[in-house]
Amino acid sequence: MIRSQIKGSGSALPKRCVTNEELAAQVDTSDEWIVERTGIRQRYIAGEGETTATLATDAARKALDDAGMGAGDIDLIVLATATPDNTFPATATKVQHALGCHGGIAFDVAAVCSGFLYALATADSMLRSGMATRALVIGAETFSRILDWEDRTTCVLFGDGAGAVVLEASECGDSDPGILATRLHADGAQHDLLYVDGGPSTTQTVGHLRMKGREVFRHAVVNLAEVLNEVIEDAGLSSGNLDWVVPHQANKRILDATARKLGISEDKVVVTVDRHANTSAASVPLAFDVARKDGRIKPGDLVMFEAMGGGFTWGASLVRM
Ligand code: ACO
Repeated sequence: MIRSQIKGSGSALPKRCVTNEELAAQVDTSDEWIVERTGIRQRYIAGEGETTATLATDAARKALDDAGMGAGDIDLIVLATATPDNTFPATATKVQHALGCHGGIAFDVAAVCSGFLYALATADSMLRSGMATRALVIGAETFSRILDWEDRTTCVLFGDGAGAVVLEASECGDSDPGILATRLHADGAQHDLLYVDGGPSTTQTVGHLRMKGREVFRHAVVNLAEVLNEVIEDAGLSSGNLDWVVPHQANKRILDATARKLGISEDKVVVTVDRHANTSAASVPLAFDVARKDGRIKPGDLVMFEAMGGGFTWGASLVRM
């Protein structure tokens, strides 16, 4: 059987780090409120010259180095973002050019905070079907540019960044590494709980992020627990088999509640929301890269990725390293 194996990872953050105290000087909030309700202590905010494409390119280069590959080895780039550099062309094609990849397939996926899961599943399907052999799967965002910096209920929650993995199609036996099972879901009926109030076809403006936080929270815990159980069952395993969960980093309370529902101990959950805040599609590959590079995630480990975001969209994917 053909499986997509993760051969390398990389991540990138903007230069400027903004603490809760700095935000409290601009909007009516406090470090205490933000830490207590979300677990967030700081976030990175893109400055001049830093865009979704530059962050994505930086993360992709590091992932290629980590995999011991060059741009010429890649024939597929799938980039998840809700904050592309331009309405078109796809940011993936900008990254392709910046990396020096010639030919192959490159496109963006829009599933907001679940974008990386959607991109991973798309690349995995294309690799297993033989359409491509080696893929860069990237999550990259500059959410700071769609935030209403006067709305304290949203502007404190998000940050900018990028993460990337290199996938390779390999002939595998049952116990070999690779993506073992994936489930994706969407429910458009909930789109007004979390959305951007602008766009090319409606207002001809970029718009700002709007969210009913409390309702998003409630749906997130229910949907994530359900999809995680589906994937665990598809793989014929139990939650006790998991070595690591790498969740979308929206809010420490969502991470804790989801872990409790699944009966997974908190020390198996990779948490970076304190340092990075919610970086939307970038958050899962960013957290994954942090935990691989600091030696927590090791070859042979069973790792669960999961995310939920605007749409709603949500999904989970189980990978053996
Ligand atoms: N600083 C100080 N006070 C604030 C702030 C702030 N930044 N934001 C809101 N408040 C106030 C509110 O005005 C409200 O005041 P009031 O009682 O006088 O009206 C009070 O705090 C409580 O507000 P709630 O919205 O009820 O607070 P809650 O405990 O629900 O926390 C939060 C809000 C953190 C947004 C939470 O609902 C949440 O995390 N929701 C999930 C949303 C999320 O993570 N979205 C990310 C995208 S989706 C995803 O990734 C899954």
